[in-house]
Amino acid sequence: MRADFPQTTAVADTLRLSLPRLTIRIVGPADAGLLQGHVRGLARASRQNRFLGGINELTAAELERITHHGAGNIFGLLAETTVLGETAVVGEAIYAVHAAAGTVEFALSVADAWHGRGIGQALIASIELRAARVGSLMLVGEVLRSNDAMLGLAAKTGFVSRRHPDEARLLRLEKVVGAFQGRAPSGWLDGMFRSVAA
Ligand SMILES: CC(C)(COP(=O)(O)OP(=O)(O)OC[C@H]1O[C@@H](n2cnc3c(N)ncnc32)[C@H](O)[C@@H]1OP(=O)(O)O)[C@@H](O)C(=O)NCCC(=O)NCCS
Repeated sequence: MRADFPQTTAVADTLRLSLPRLTIRIVGPADAGLLQGHVRGLARASRQNRFLGGINELTAAELERITHHGAGNIFGLLAETTVLGETAVVGEAIYAVHAAAGTVEFALSVADAWHGRGIGQALIASIELRAARVGSLMLVGEVLRSNDAMLGLAAKTGFVSRRHPDEARLLRLEKVVGAFQGRAPSGWLDGMFRSVAA
């Protein structure tokens, strides 16, 4: 073997495989168990990042609030894919429409085993599309300063991070709806949504 020949046996190849199909849908009253199962299944650190503190599961009141969509301004989303013929929940998000302020506030989580496959980005795109449809102007969220993954996702999807007005441990995320690469929501958002959900 030549001295400069690459030692291929010592190299690990990591492939980013795309998902066969990802469906993002509104949570309904029958989904309480699925949603709670996803939250319970998150690693402790992920739950801490998602809920900005230590919780083990959603309370009955929170489940009720999220699953009875349309009641109030709170909506839940589930991201699902198919594993060995079975539907599996791989992510969730919640968003609240504040019509008077023209904002949509959101938070999300992706099952730990499914990180790094674009599901977080797809959930953000879905929320943004839904925000555009109800005429909102801005997406807003809160994130722990230490949450590098969410800050990375936010930067990649066009959010700016600002100092939080009340809590030093948090940053506030803001994005003008549709403001991404200079294109209108009807262009890139609809295209991306079809590509992840079709
Ligand atoms: C934050 C979170 C939702 C990201 O979901 P994900 O599906 O893994 O993210 P994606 O695969 O869509 O990543 C998209 C981009 O985000 C950024 N990103 C994702 N994970 C990252 C990490 N660990 N560090 C830095 N940037 C990261 C990258 O820019 C990535 O693009 P790339 O893969 O081309 O580099 C996920 O880590 C999670 O559920 N964390 C726990 C809950 C949480 O923190 N929720 C946020 C509360 S608001």
